[in-house]
Amino acid sequence: MNQPRSSGNDQTSADTVLVTGATGYIGSHTCIELLASGYDVIGVDNFDNSEAVVLDRIAELAGRPIAFAELDIRDTDALRKVVAEHQPAAVIHFAGLKAVGESVAYPDKYWSVNVGGTLSLLDAIADSAVTKFVFSSSCTVYGDPAEVPVNESTPVAPISPYGRTKLTAEEMIRDILSTRDCSGLLLRYFNPVGAHESGRIGEDPVGVPNNLMPFAMQVAVGRRDSLSIFGDDYDTPDGTCVRDYIHVVDLADGHVAALKALDATDTCEIVNLGTGTGSSVLDVVNAAGEAVGTPIAHQVVGRRDGDAAIVFADTTKAEAMLGWKAERTMADMCRDHWAWQSQNPNGYE
Ligand code: NAD
Ligand code: UFG
Repeated sequence: MNQPRSSGNDQTSADTVLVTGATGYIGSHTCIELLASGYDVIGVDNFDNSEAVVLDRIAELAGRPIAFAELDIRDTDALRKVVAEHQPAAVIHFAGLKAVGESVAYPDKYWSVNVGGTLSLLDAIADSAVTKFVFSSSCTVYGDPAEVPVNESTPVAPISPYGRTKLTAEEMIRDILSTRDCSGLLLRYFNPVGAHESGRIGEDPVGVPNNLMPFAMQVAVGRRDSLSIFGDDYDTPDGTCVRDYIHVVDLADGHVAALKALDATDTCEIVNLGTGTGSSVLDVVNAAGEAVGTPIAHQVVGRRDGDAAIVFADTTKAEAMLGWKAERTMADMCRDHWAWQSQNPNGYE
């Protein structure tokens, strides 16, 4: 264990956190918030969907680096060596594959990384000093919920291999932690968007973006001609789908709050991380245009298969258990996403 080190906030000792998927979109923002809160970080990633330059940017923004090992989380021996060397007290497990369409085409890959990789990680930390485990799950496990807002008791019904791997990983983590002196939080994220306010790190999708905000911002920066809006005939106020968009830095802060909350519990709990506010596709397109300074070119096309009309979170449990609430607005999300996209038009190069 590292020596306790004083910090400028209420974190009194610097525990070490193992962060898998540390150079990815949410992982990189979380590393910065962890460092700012006085934690030390040992990150791991195989750069399947991220770039090594992210490590330099984390150090630049946080004022100190994270320790890092390039590895595949399915390599249990390599993970075990990292755990033995750094003696983390907590794990935040982001590493995984997240594209719904790809999961339909390559379900074997998704089960291998998202479920096999999670089992490998749990194996690697067995008999270690890890007493807190945080997992990146997704509101995709709720499928098309019958009622909103969605709380943690809403029935789960994932409709893609991706969603099923997330749900299976949740169940596996719960079963295995119940046999150990290790508490857990299974965090179901809603729709993360935005970037660090500096614009130095952000989301860098490979190929054509699947998600709304990255696509809209690539239109704004001239990489794409026009955004297709998938349907305006839903039973929603303006006919387009409604989602709960959350600023990635608020989400990152939610992980710091999660680690602190885990000190006070010995259970494994599910918690939704969203804002509790729904925004339609047109709301996002309009807010993005405001942030950019010119409208986002768009046209309405047919519905996309599998889209639910309205999904947004009930945030009661997150507020009660984590003492955390998202603070940033849609305007903040668009401003910061644009800062990233405009400064890095082609992403990390
Ligand atoms: P991301 O792809 O940017 O980050 C994931 C990281 O994991 C990448 O850096 C990738 O290189 C790494 N990785 C993938 N396979 C690996 C392996 N076998 N070994 C080691 N590293 C590996 O994705 P993100 O948006 O930062 O998402 C992080 C987590 O949050 C994922 O588990 C994802 O399923 C979950 N999540 C994301 C969203 C979202 O919309 N971004 C929503 C809900 C849940
Ligand atoms: N949309 C468009 N045009 C686009 C992209 C998206 O109109 O080019 C619409 C979609 O139809 C949907 C809304 O914008 O109505 C949001 O779509 P996203 O793809 O950005 O987000 P989803 O809610 O479909 O799902 C995303 C991830 C899931 C994850 C979920 C919750 O793809 O894996 O957020 O975190 F589970």
